[in-house]
Amino acid sequence: MNVVIIGSGYVGLVTGCCLAEVGNIVTCVDHDTKKVAALAAGRLPFYEPQLGQILGAQLAKGLLKFETSMASAVANADVVFLAVGTPSNADGSADLSNLLACARALGDAIPSHCVIVVKSTAPVGTGDRIEEILNASVRQADANDGIRVACNPEFLAEGRAVHDFRCPDRIVIGANDAYSSAVLEQLYTPFDTDGQRTMLMDRRSAEFAKYACNCMLAARISMINELSSLAGTLGADIASTCRVLRADPRIGASYLQPGVGYGGSCLPKDLSALIDLAQRAGEPAHMLRSIERVNVGQRQRLLKAICDYFGGGLRGRRLAIWGLSFKPDTDDVRASPSVALIRDLVQEGANVNAYDPVARPAAQAALGNVSVGFGQSAMAVCEQADALIVMTEWDEFKSPDLDRLATTMRGHMVFDARSIYKTKVLQQHGLHHYRLDQIMSVSGEPVVNRPRMSADRGYRGMLPQAESPA
Ligand code: UDX
Repeated sequence: MNVVIIGSGYVGLVTGCCLAEVGNIVTCVDHDTKKVAALAAGRLPFYEPQLGQILGAQLAKGLLKFETSMASAVANADVVFLAVGTPSNADGSADLSNLLACARALGDAIPSHCVIVVKSTAPVGTGDRIEEILNASVRQADANDGIRVACNPEFLAEGRAVHDFRCPDRIVIGANDAYSSAVLEQLYTPFDTDGQRTMLMDRRSAEFAKYACNCMLAARISMINELSSLAGTLGADIASTCRVLRADPRIGASYLQPGVGYGGSCLPKDLSALIDLAQRAGEPAHMLRSIERVNVGQRQRLLKAICDYFGGGLRGRRLAIWGLSFKPDTDDVRASPSVALIRDLVQEGANVNAYDPVARPAAQAALGNVSVGFGQSAMAVCEQADALIVMTEWDEFKSPDLDRLATTMRGHMVFDARSIYKTKVLQQHGLHHYRLDQIMSVSGEPVVNRPRMSADRGYRGMLPQAESPA
């Protein structure tokens, strides 16, 4: 098929590259001329495993090209995907200005048989609005029974987006007409390897399902994070609890890793947008609002633990940060808990040095004039540090040289915001270990200091105090 993708961001590029890989002729359109030139030369604007190879291979085969002109790109299109960003407005609602501007710009240019597919995550009813805009185009409205607009949400997780696209667990096609459903079903046939993954539904249901998925995922993280805090406070072990939870097939085994909270370009934004939709619809959305509160609370909990450890303030303290991206295997720092924490730490007077394998440029841009140092290696930022804070569970942080770490740092505390270390192991190297399921009660007072039930439980209830600043 002749496919056009409007928007060469994360979703648009993965979609374009993977559709070209199975033989479609794909044109990606973006208004950013520099980005288009780089992509046409085979350079990706962000880090995503495997995507660069596909880009190079499909450019070489001539199945993939990049353009800035929408009108010429769509002239022969069978399918046009709209994959532009829908960021959050200040009130949490989704900003549809780019998406609707694209729909207006498509106008007369699209051929009559073309199906317009909304790939961007957009509120329920957006397909209706786009249909109205396009139906206002005289030529189109005359040429067929009206414009065909479908919704085909993406379920790509960064860092494994190529795998998610090639082997999807679901292909959701929301269309109000049979032609659009048939065209999209055909387009996705190579990816529906067992013929069981395609889910046809009406457009509004598909729009809603996308939000439901991300909010359910966010809820799961906030739930495990809240349980984790509670477990620590009550002297229970969250890792053991997780083993019990995972064994229940109704709960499921994945997405139960407690930590400093979710970030990224989707979960926080989509949750806010659904809360906004609920509000407009007069629905209370009690649970949705709690998910957000718990998520912010995780970072505050960590900040408080760090401040408490240092006796209240951070002035004069040298802190090392490992990890800037919102999760491993991506350079995306959007809504990254690490970047937010760095701002707070600097505000408290700390001297922060950070390292990330790939996200430094993005973090530098996001932090703007916040005064932060960046190092070339994980060990370099720990030089004379009073504490290390591990914010992203990159593989290279999982088995560091602990002897070297202990001698490089001047302090001994490792704040392990992703629970990747074992307390016993750190202690063998003279290091202290803090995980978010440990220590302080909500009021900040040390809580139940129960006898340890295993050697790997760390400081239960009591946080050791840091030495005075050097
Ligand atoms: C998510 C969805 O997974 C994907 O289907 C959707 O299309 C886009 O949003 P992504 O934002 O790339 O993908 O990241 P994901 O791997 O889902 O992680 C989101 C956040 O949750 C990260 O900050 C991660 O660290 C955190 N997380 C995830 C946890 O804290 N615990 C977990 O068990 C899982």
